[in-house]
Amino acid sequence: MTSEYADIPVEELTEESAAVELERLAREILRHDKLYHGGDSPEISDAAYDALRRRNLAVEQAFPHLVREDSPSRRVGFVALDKFEKITHAMPMLSLANAFSDEDVADFWDSVTRFLKLDGRPALTAEPKIDGLSLSLRYENGRLASAATRGDGVVGENVTTNARTISDIPNVLAGNDIPQVVEVRGEVYMTKQAFQALNAKLEAEGKPAYVNPRNTAAGSLRQLDSAVTAQRPLRFFAYAWGEMSSVPRSTQMEMVALLGQWGFKTNPLMKRFTGLAELLEHYHAIEEGRAELAYDIDGVVYKVDDLGLQARLGMRSNSPRWAIAHKFPAEKAWTLLKDIEIQIGRTGALTPVARLEPVTVGGVVVTNATMHNEDYIKGIGNDGQPIRGGKDLRIGDTVMVQRAGDVIPQILDADLEKRPEDSRPFEFPTVCPACGSHAVREVNVQTGKQDSVRRCTGGLICPAQAVERLKHFVSRNAFDIEGLGDKQVEAFYAEGMIRTAADIFRLREEDEKSLKRLKDREGWGETSAKNLFEAIEVRRDIALYRFIFGLGIRHVGEQTAKDLARAYGDIDAFSAAMKKLAAGEEEAQEELIAIDGIGGTVAFALKEFFAEPRNVAVYDALLEEVRPQPAEQAASDSPVAGKTIVFTGSLERMTRDEAKAMAERLGAKVSGSVSSKTDLVVAGPGAGSKLKKAADLGVETTDEDGWFELVGQA
Ligand code: IVH
Repeated sequence: MTSEYADIPVEELTEESAAVELERLAREILRHDKLYHGGDSPEISDAAYDALRRRNLAVEQAFPHLVREDSPSRRVGFVALDKFEKITHAMPMLSLANAFSDEDVADFWDSVTRFLKLDGRPALTAEPKIDGLSLSLRYENGRLASAATRGDGVVGENVTTNARTISDIPNVLAGNDIPQVVEVRGEVYMTKQAFQALNAKLEAEGKPAYVNPRNTAAGSLRQLDSAVTAQRPLRFFAYAWGEMSSVPRSTQMEMVALLGQWGFKTNPLMKRFTGLAELLEHYHAIEEGRAELAYDIDGVVYKVDDLGLQARLGMRSNSPRWAIAHKFPAEKAWTLLKDIEIQIGRTGALTPVARLEPVTVGGVVVTNATMHNEDYIKGIGNDGQPIRGGKDLRIGDTVMVQRAGDVIPQILDADLEKRPEDSRPFEFPTVCPACGSHAVREVNVQTGKQDSVRRCTGGLICPAQAVERLKHFVSRNAFDIEGLGDKQVEAFYAEGMIRTAADIFRLREEDEKSLKRLKDREGWGETSAKNLFEAIEVRRDIALYRFIFGLGIRHVGEQTAKDLARAYGDIDAFSAAMKKLAAGEEEAQEELIAIDGIGGTVAFALKEFFAEPRNVAVYDALLEEVRPQPAEQAASDSPVAGKTIVFTGSLERMTRDEAKAMAERLGAKVSGSVSSKTDLVVAGPGAGSKLKKAADLGVETTDEDGWFELVGQA
């Protein structure tokens, strides 16, 4: 399809011609996608295809309001994007063990040498540890097939469309020695300069700023609208690889050089060493030059250069034995402690927070820091022994702040010489500043020791606890209500729109009223309110464990909630058991403690929670609104139990997510890529390379109907 506008530069397009162009590009790209994925021979070169996609994004950037519903930038393959699909990594994405001192590094090198029973230390490479987020890029026949975030290391998010907008990431590999399957791994990052420019722009638009370049890069990559990602200047360094149909070089240095030839940016500070003194010298040189680098780094990574030795060293559960990250020491700075405020947590814990004269610590402006608890301020450690030589911390003190990576900054020390003469020890409140209830330090019955945390006894009457409970309720691992963040919860609570979790689900009932109120709120339009109602609606059906976790019961974390959900199976069984527990029935208590992973502390916390009638009232009201879904049990008698399944092509009777959930429910493992470990490939129309690979490897294949027959749901 040609168009009279196809050759006009983007800057010269008018509204009208841009709309025509976007329509043409959407159709063209879809047609080429179909040709490509359908296994037919493509009509245009990869480079020409990439040029079409780039032009589409460029026009969309210039005319954001013209972005089409069916825009290629909103599609991954053929599936419409409403949230990211999951991708199971062909090889897990590991993390790195840490070294914090020169001695740790020497120990690492020695242990590697011992493990391999070598006479001398094997060569190591050393390169900066980029402070970004890792990304795995899968190339099939030299062409970018998918891009996935690390996720939990096993399953990540499919961010292919967004990755295509990053200019450091080639869509097509260049050069020679390109294996059929190549997974390139590396770090997505944003330069310090780009971060500052973006924040300045966001602030000028009255939008919230990002905290640091790393969070910004992560937020930018995980945009559902890839036109937004395209506007963010993201960069990429390649430094490792995952699955490779063959490994064309024999050392880390050579492989990274090859990544460079394929078209990736690699870090120029990477060097190879055989001696400890030289290696550490390089580390210290990188550390000293840190501020001048265009991007943030948080250490130096050492890797055994010889790939044969890497293979012999292998992995621990979570990290390779052949690499280590030598972290930079935490950054410290002195500043004035202006005030100490008390924050109240969801379970009533009173945490002292230092309000500081703003100070830059390692490139980040710090204004708050945690002071942990009452004893910490007094100069007493968790074990009851003096810390800082027993020195206390006072308002008006000049204090040392430490910031390490993403951890909340903390106050380490005070300079007594600068202490004002009229300063007095801080008086920790014994009543809750939010509700006035007594705040007490419990004594552990088993150890007889006093808890270092002081807690508000106000429970359900304490507004601060109520707000924190609501924040927890809507948080990502609980009900995960999009558009209802901490700020909204605080504001809605303050206005009396929500008091308990159930109220969230009644917001819509008051449609008229709340819509108007929401609309009047700064930054809220009718669409945001509608979107919020929809986000709430979809959570009425909720996994049982999320429901239990969302209640915010002390000591009931996500894992415990999962254990409980699996053990009781459904909400009726759970409710009945909790009622009996609260009534003091021995049997219920025994049944509870018999559950794998549940001990006396959790049992006591559950009993306390359900023995409180006001908690039960909130619980019952919530159950009027939501429907917790039975926990899914792995059916071991299914013919697919224990099998590894790959779904590919477009599915017509179910979505990808459904297919995956169904397979997992039946005890199967779902993978994103075909390998010799795959037991079955379920292919819908449009299946391409994966189907072909299955045929090559002799892996069994079936279609969607065949799948339903197999699992007995035809
Ligand atoms: S190698 C199997 N090299 O650090 C090891 N990682 O703490 C693969 N990172 O998840 C990682 N710069 O996101 C490696 N030059 C570098 C790195 C690097 C940053 C990140 C990476 C990894 C994390 C582990």
